Amino acid sequence: MTAFGHALRALWSLGDGIFLNHGSFGACPLEVVHAQDALRAEMEAQPDVFFRDKIMPRENGSQLRTAAEALAEFVGADTLAFAENATSGVQAILNNFPLTQGDAILLTNHTYNALRLMAEACCAASGAQVRTVNIPLDASDDTIVAAFKAALAPEVKLAIVDHITSPTALMMPLERIIALLKAQGVRVLVDGAHAVGQVPLNLAQLGADWYVSNAHKWLYAPRATAFLYAAPGTRAMTKPHVVSHFIGLGFPRSFDYLGTRDYTPWLAMPAVLAFFAKLGPEALWRHERAVIAEATAHLAQIGVLPVNPHSAPAMRAFLLPQGRTAQAEDAAQLMRDLWRAARIQVAAMVLGEKLLLRVSAQAYVDADDLAALANALAQHGWPGR
Ligand SMILES: Cc1ncc(COP(=O)(O)O)c(C=O)c1O
Repeated sequence: MTAFGHALRALWSLGDGIFLNHGSFGACPLEVVHAQDALRAEMEAQPDVFFRDKIMPRENGSQLRTAAEALAEFVGADTLAFAENATSGVQAILNNFPLTQGDAILLTNHTYNALRLMAEACCAASGAQVRTVNIPLDASDDTIVAAFKAALAPEVKLAIVDHITSPTALMMPLERIIALLKAQGVRVLVDGAHAVGQVPLNLAQLGADWYVSNAHKWLYAPRATAFLYAAPGTRAMTKPHVVSHFIGLGFPRSFDYLGTRDYTPWLAMPAVLAFFAKLGPEALWRHERAVIAEATAHLAQIGVLPVNPHSAPAMRAFLLPQGRTAQAEDAAQLMRDLWRAARIQVAAMVLGEKLLLRVSAQAYVDADDLAALANALAQHGWPGR
């Protein structure tokens, strides 16, 4: 498959309009939707047999485990556990992380808001504290590493480090940050929510203690498909937040049965990987880089520049210059206005009193879409311009 852009839109069931926000909730291709539909039909036809044969076998040969191991191989891990989403994967880790009064967890000012709230709740319960590493929007890799270095202290026990940040689409210099933190005995949990499917992964080599990613974003899995990798040394302390029949089996098997629920998104993983392989990751990533370059060129013509040249390959954030500081409602209003006026879905957010626009490239995005975005912005403006 080589023709990307609008020629591929029919592989998804996207409705009218221009979709430039794959990064927030993903979009599942029809082929994968149909594979999951077939699994659901099977489940509804013979519910007992389905659960007993595919999900509940305690030996490693369950269909669910086979699906997890296929994903593990794809990300260069010896094994991993499925999770519903990045949020619940991180929750499972934080619930069991031993924090006491005076300990600290490091986050950054780019950390995803739900995870900040989660870390704050976890610290409130144990008397620990959250510390924020401040990373300027236009920081270089050296500046980012130096900011983490400056935040090191004996009380820091855990750091949650993004692979690709949500509001700013920055690629963190992950290997350098992990080496720095681990040398000081700090455990590292990588929030790779945007990584799998957008960048190649080799988790065994990376060296993080935990790595969480959403397969329902850039890998095109059905929603509620994420994974949690735990390095061998942290497996004993990595437990699901739901205690159910498999709890005694240890990581990762303890995550394989969390009570009666819909496991079909996870069972669809072989279809997900087959679709991704058919699309061709190298060609897909080339197309996505070209889309981001196109977006950058179109937006530059109206004075809208990237927040940082080190953005992720398929996602880039841009700064919308305003005549005043950005207000929380500006982002929501801009997204509403672009949808109503031009049928464009794109992410906008406010960070550090600045209004940011985040463009997601994808297989189905074409050069016309980026021209339309720049035209709509030029014509309708944005709050505070
Ligand atoms: C960096 C980052 N972390 C975590 C999440 C949470 O993902 P989910 O809502 O699937 O749990 C997101 C969602 O967009 C994200 O961008």
